[in-house]
Amino acid sequence: MSTIAEFVQRLPKAELHLHIEGSLEPELMFRLAQRNGVSLTYDSVEEIRSAYRFSNLQEFLDIYYQGMAVLLHEQDFYDLTWAYIEQCRSNNVVHCEIFFDPQAHTDRGVGFESVVAGISRALQDARDKYSISSRLIMCFLRHLSEERAFASLDEALPYLHLIHGVGLDSSELGHPPEKFERVFAAAHALGLKKVAHAGEEGPPEYVWQALQLLEVARIDHGNRALEDSGLVQALVKSKIPLTVCPLSNLSLGVVDSLENHPLKTMLDAGLLVTINSDDPAYFGGYLNENYLRIAQALKLNASQMSVLAQNSFKASFLSSTEIALRLAEVERCQSHK
Ligand code: ADE
Ligand code: ZN
Repeated sequence: MSTIAEFVQRLPKAELHLHIEGSLEPELMFRLAQRNGVSLTYDSVEEIRSAYRFSNLQEFLDIYYQGMAVLLHEQDFYDLTWAYIEQCRSNNVVHCEIFFDPQAHTDRGVGFESVVAGISRALQDARDKYSISSRLIMCFLRHLSEERAFASLDEALPYLHLIHGVGLDSSELGHPPEKFERVFAAAHALGLKKVAHAGEEGPPEYVWQALQLLEVARIDHGNRALEDSGLVQALVKSKIPLTVCPLSNLSLGVVDSLENHPLKTMLDAGLLVTINSDDPAYFGGYLNENYLRIAQALKLNASQMSVLAQNSFKASFLSSTEIALRLAEVERCQSHK
């Protein structure tokens, strides 16, 4: 018999909702600031960490976009991504699907090429050195216009061999998915997969729009879908996964405590739910910490942890053969607990 912490550690897992810029730890932020001659408004790592108190999504986003100012060159994006890969290794994350926000960089004069090349080179090294597989998903910033999203998709055209899908993130309220219907259709025509943040702060209507207008393969967060039973039924029937992020939800006030997190309600409703870390450098924990904290808060057992790990592969963009192999690994882990 192992403890739940040992069991979570041993479980092979996929992470499907991770903003690579949200994995920028204060220590690396300082190192890159020095290397690039960028001045920070903070004097120490401790001061940065103590600024990470948010009462909603926008308060976080303001600090998140500020932090990115240290990312200027291809090597910076490589170092950022490699640091996350090291976390994958220690959390036994064997597959990751990573978001990046190209507009947050190109708007500061950083070339699309530097961003994609740095991230992709680290992901290739992760494959070669650690057999960690990955997919890269470019997000459109929803507080910016449709026209700017189209411009970003245009910039991505030379790199489509490195980009697997598109996503939609940033300030949700007031920026419904319908604003991006045409750019998602264009991405689909290019053969890209589609996902979108919806129902984190926004109403169930935004989740409906993501499903019906953007025709997404996954909903990122989706917490507020529970307010609409017809929507829950539609998500269950279509097996559209929700990539849920417990520590993020706690940090941004989406839930007032992990004990009141809707994860168990979602599982009980038959939803295909996965656990993810979102922006771990800002929200206080990588993937295992998210599994553990939610297990403790909701009194989940080892077989529920296994279901969550299985869901992470089922909801991924891996091939059906790769998914079957990973599910068998989870099964073996479960039978040796
Ligand atoms: N960008 C990075 N993290 C995000 C989140 N949790 N919601 C929306 N946009 C984000
Ligand atoms: Zn997110």
